[in-house]
Amino acid sequence: MKPIRHLTRAAVLAVTFTVPCVAGAAVDEATAQALARDLNAALSAATGVIADLQADINAAKVSKSAVTPDAIASAFVSRYEKSVGKPYDAAAKDVSGQARDALHKAVRETIARHEGQIVKGGPDAFVPAYFRAQVLKRLNESALSKAVKVYATNRDGELINEDWSVKTTMKNSPLAGEVAGLMKTGALEPVAKRVGDRYLGYWPMKLAPACVTCHARNGLKQTEGGFGGALVIEVTVK
Ligand code: HEC
Repeated sequence: MKPIRHLTRAAVLAVTFTVPCVAGAAVDEATAQALARDLNAALSAATGVIADLQADINAAKVSKSAVTPDAIASAFVSRYEKSVGKPYDAAAKDVSGQARDALHKAVRETIARHEGQIVKGGPDAFVPAYFRAQVLKRLNESALSKAVKVYATNRDGELINEDWSVKTTMKNSPLAGEVAGLMKTGALEPVAKRVGDRYLGYWPMKLAPACVTCHARNGLKQTEGGFGGALVIEVTVK
C-alpha cells in the first residue's frame, strides 16, 4: 500500500476529529472492535516469532544477531503484515496506531532485557507465553492502558505459572468474572461483546501438539485440540 495515501487519510482524520490524546479517551464500540482485532493479530505475530525460535532456543543455537530488538521487531512486523495484508502503521494518529506503537516498543524493550537469556538458551529457557507476559506487562503499564488492557491467562488448576491466573492478571478488571466464566466452558469460539463500559475481545487458544508436549515437560497434563488458555483484550468504551 502507498504510504502517501495513508498519510493523507491520517491527516484528514486528524482534522475531522480533534482528538488531543486518544489513548486516554474512551472510544466507540466499532473503534474498540477494530482495535482489539488489530492488537490480537499483532500480538499473535510477535508471539509467533518467539515460537518459531523454540527449537533453536532449547538447543542453545540462537545467534546474537537474530535476537536483537531490531531483528525481532522487524520479524514480527513482517509476520503481521503477511497475516493481515496491510502495513504495520505505528504512526497512525488513531488509537490503533498508538497501540501498534506501544506494542512495538514493548516488544523491543522485552527483547533488550532478555536477549542474553535467549542466546544462552537451554530447555524452555524463553518460551512464547513468558515473552508474551513480559510484553503485556509493559503494555499494561504504558499510557495506552487507560484505553486498552491485554491479558493472557488460563483456568485455575491448569496453570504452569500461577502468576497468570485470572485473579492475578485481571485483579483490577471488571471483566474478570466474565472471563473466568467463559474459560470454564472451554469453548474454542472467540467472543466479542460489550459488558458495561467495556468491550471484551476473547480469543481462546487451542492446544497444538507442540503446546501439549512442552507443557507436559513443565508438569501440566493437557489434551491436544483442547482449550489451552485465552487472550483477552479489554477496551474502555463510551
Ligand atoms: C517450549 C515450551 C512451550 C510451548 C511450545 C508452549 N508453551 Fe505455553 N507455557 C510454557 C511455559 C514454561 C509456561 C509458563 C511461562 C511462565 O512462567 O511465564 C507457559 C505458559 C502458558 C500460558 C499461561 C498460563 C500458564 O500456564 O502459566 C498459556 C495460556 C500457554 N502457555 C498456552 C500455550 C499454547 C496454547 C501453546 C501452543 C500454541 C503453548 N503454550 C506452547 C511452555 C510452552
